[in-house]
Amino acid sequence: MVTLSRVEPADWQAVHTWAALPEACRFQPWGPNTEAETRAYVAAAVQAWSEVPQRRFTYAARIDDDVVGVGELHVRNRNHRQGEISYIVHPRLWGRGVATAIGRELLARGFGELGLHRIHATCDPRNAGSARVLGKLGMTWEGRHRHDMLLRDGWRDSEVFSILDDEWRNAISR
Ligand SMILES: CC(C)(COP(=O)(O)OP(=O)(O)OC[C@H]1O[C@@H](n2cnc3c(N)ncnc32)[C@H](O)[C@@H]1OP(=O)(O)O)[C@@H](O)C(=O)NCCC(=O)NCCS
Repeated sequence: MVTLSRVEPADWQAVHTWAALPEACRFQPWGPNTEAETRAYVAAAVQAWSEVPQRRFTYAARIDDDVVGVGELHVRNRNHRQGEISYIVHPRLWGRGVATAIGRELLARGFGELGLHRIHATCDPRNAGSARVLGKLGMTWEGRHRHDMLLRDGWRDSEVFSILDDEWRNAISR
């Protein structure tokens, strides 16, 4: 079972086991990370938990006591109750439902505790695994932003998916 808990400073070592891998960051604007970059990422994510108002919620995903991934929920606009989710999983566990479990929990926190109205996520058009996760989460494809990120291999388009609070409530009550 996958559980989420707020990221802790000591988690940087587990995070680095995937953040240093080219396959884990292939479609991302960062990485592969040096140790210093992973420490800085985790330190900033930990620091965000004490900001008021809090806009960034970074969780370590654990199976038993092992940190196997990270899920992030960002409040993009508090007035308009807009949020964004993202996730990453250690490649040794890909294909076992871990990202889907992380995503479900992020949506529950975003729509539940945070009272958001719309939550979106983006992925590289080549990232079929992530697009599949977003579909399994009940998100709807909205369209494609063109060249909104510069990756190591050039400009990246982003597929945009979203889910609204009533859609999420209907899905979990079924
Ligand atoms: C994308 C990622 C998070 C998926 O994690 P995961 O734990 O393997 O995801 P899940 O097991 O919950 O679901 C993956 C689904 O995609 C499918 N999938 C994986 N690769 C695929 C591919 N190349 N083509 C089509 N489907 C694919 C799997 O079969 C599975 O679907 P299924 O349950 O219907 O069989 C993981 O690959 C990852 O961490 N990648 C690097 C970071 C990243 O891209 N994050 C997302 C940013 S948008």
